[in-house]
Amino acid sequence: MTHKIIELPKFFDDRGNLSFLESNVHIPFKIKRSYLIYDVPGGESRGGHAFKEQQEFIIAISGSFDLIINDGNKDIKYSLNRSYYGVYVPNMLWRHLENFSTNSLCLVVASTYYDANDYIVDFDLFKNIVT
Ligand code: TYD
Repeated sequence: MTHKIIELPKFFDDRGNLSFLESNVHIPFKIKRSYLIYDVPGGESRGGHAFKEQQEFIIAISGSFDLIINDGNKDIKYSLNRSYYGVYVPNMLWRHLENFSTNSLCLVVASTYYDANDYIVDFDLFKNIVT
C-alpha cells in the first residue's frame, strides 16, 4: 500500500465536532505508539528520515504544516490543516515536516515502539536502497 490521505469519521455537532480512529480499522496497521510534535519555531523542519519497518499516520490536530514524502525520486507534498484527515505513510519512504503554522500540533500514530535502529537518516543511503 502506498502513501495516501485517509479521512476519519466525523460527527459534526453544534456542541463541537468529533473524529476518531481505531487500530486496524481506520488506519491499516496495529497502533503501538503515538507522539506529538508541537511548539515548532517558524522555519524549522522535523522528521527528515525514513523507517525500515515503521508505518505511520500523520495528522494536523491543530494549525497546519506540510508533509513531504520522497520515494527516492521525487517529492510529494501534502498540506495538512484539518483534524479529521491525515496521511498514511508506509515504511521505506523518506519524509519530513515543514512550514508549521504558529501553535500547530502534529500527531503521529505509529505501528512500532520507538527503536533508533529503525531509522535511516542518510538520504543517499536511502536512495541507494530504494532505487
Ligand atoms: P526524532 O524522531 O529523531 O525526531 P526528528 O527526526 O524530528 O529529529 O526524535 C527526536 C528525539 O526524540 C530522539 O532523540 C529520540 C526521541 N524519541 C523517543 O524517545 N521516542 C519516540 O517515540 C520518538 C518519536 C522520538
